[in-house]
Amino acid sequence: MKILVLHGPNLNLLGTREPDIYGRMTLERINADLMDLAAELGCDLTILQSNSEGEIIDSIQSAVGTFLGILINPAGYTHTSVAIRDAIAAVGLPAVEVHLSNIHAREEFRSHSFISPVAVGQICGFGADSYLLGLRALHGHINKTGE
Ligand code: DQA
Repeated sequence: MKILVLHGPNLNLLGTREPDIYGRMTLERINADLMDLAAELGCDLTILQSNSEGEIIDSIQSAVGTFLGILINPAGYTHTSVAIRDAIAAVGLPAVEVHLSNIHAREEFRSHSFISPVAVGQICGFGADSYLLGLRALHGHINKTGE
C-alpha cells in the first residue's frame, strides 16, 4: 500500500518556527517517525514538503495510479486554497487532513478549512502525533474500504 504524505508551506521550518505553537520537533524527525510507523503497518510512504501551491496540486494529480491515499498537512493553504481542495476532489483518493495545532482553538480565520469537506477526516491538536494518528486512520480507512 503506497501513501503520499504532503507537507505544506513553512513546515520545513519546524523545530524553530513558533515552537510554543508547533513544538520543537523537526520535519526530518516527524518524517522518520512516519517511516517507522509505515514499516510497522506495512505501507510505503513518499513524502514531499513544498512551499508552492502549484507543486502540491501537481503531486496530488500525479498520485492517481500510484498511491492509494494522501496524508496532508496543507498548512496555511488549508484556509485559502480552493485549488488544493479541487485537486483532492478531482482525483478521488482518500485524504486525511492533519495539523499539529488545534486550528479550532486559534485565530478565527484558522477554524475554516477548505480541505475538510473533501477529506475522509481531520486530526488536529496533537502536535507531531497528529501525523501518526492520521497515518493510522488513513491506513485503516483504505483497508476497510478496499480502495
Ligand atoms: C498548521 C496550522 C495552520 O493554520 C498553519 O498555517 C500552519 C500549520 C498546523 O499544522 O498546525 O502552517 O497546519
